[in-house]
Amino acid sequence: METAALASIHWHDERFKYDCEARNQTVEQACFHHFYGKNEITIVDLGSGTGSNCLYFFEKFPSQQNWIFIEQEEKISQYALNRLGIEADKKGYEITHGTNSLVLKKENRNINIRYITDSFLNLVDLVDLDKVDLVMASAVFDLISFSQFVDFGSVLLEKKLPLLTTLNYAEMNFNSDTPTDVVFIEKYESFMNRSQEFGKAMGKKCPRILVDFFQKQEAKIEYGPSIWKLEGESAQVMNHHLLNFMESASNQMMEDQDDRMLFKDWITSKREAVEDGELDTYVQYYDLFVSNK
Ligand SMILES: C[S@@+](CC[C@H](N)C(=O)[O-])C[C@H]1O[C@@H](n2cnc3c(N)ncnc32)[C@H](O)[C@@H]1O
Repeated sequence: METAALASIHWHDERFKYDCEARNQTVEQACFHHFYGKNEITIVDLGSGTGSNCLYFFEKFPSQQNWIFIEQEEKISQYALNRLGIEADKKGYEITHGTNSLVLKKENRNINIRYITDSFLNLVDLVDLDKVDLVMASAVFDLISFSQFVDFGSVLLEKKLPLLTTLNYAEMNFNSDTPTDVVFIEKYESFMNRSQEFGKAMGKKCPRILVDFFQKQEAKIEYGPSIWKLEGESAQVMNHHLLNFMESASNQMMEDQDDRMLFKDWITSKREAVEDGELDTYVQYYDLFVSNK
């Protein structure tokens, strides 16, 4: 497996605990309430990564579930199915692996998962949306542009398809509050908004844009903050991942040599604080559940 995909998998796995703790319970309950009394549910998970949404929800949703993962990196999807098989086995499920699918069975519970390797921007061509009950997306919408999102959101509204979207990036800060923190957080955020072939990704504007879009369409919407709390010694690995991520992003946004030197000093001091168990990082996201009136 190539290094980038492997590094990304480690990062996804490490995040899981913090993602679970961050999930906004009011938003989640609105979703459960919507499906209350249903026996079977078909879910499409966009940018499904290592399968964290499925891992978190498969024991919370109705007993008959069909999951369709749409993920552009096939190796990550293969890893996701293995991971889900291992975790379900620990919970006493019977596991059946297929080429791009997995079935988990226990008593009356039946969880079917398959993945499609493609861009979720092609959703309408990949899946029969008339057979889908819920679209899910975690930590992906801030990666796409406003116009890409509008195309996508319009399809959901037209099909009256509920959407549960979590971990939409809003902002971050550290327990220290130095002016350089502000400067380099801004550099990092400007990386999210860099020009790409599809335009500029929504980045930190994502939550506001999503809420505004659905409110204007008079959809029913429940939303609220979800926060990664990466505190002290127990969060050392996550804090290192995040700093590495910021370093590679910020480096691409800095041409000036003085800025680069300042950044080097800043990131070194942050890494020292992590090693001493003294760095706390807070990354604020927003979760939303959208359904039609
Ligand atoms: C930040 S990760 C989030 C993964 C997962 N949803 C989670 O919460 O753990 C973003 C994932 O979306 C995938 N991705 C990004 N753009 C995509 C696209 N246009 N179509 C399909 N997958 C995409 C990436 O490969 C990556 O696995």
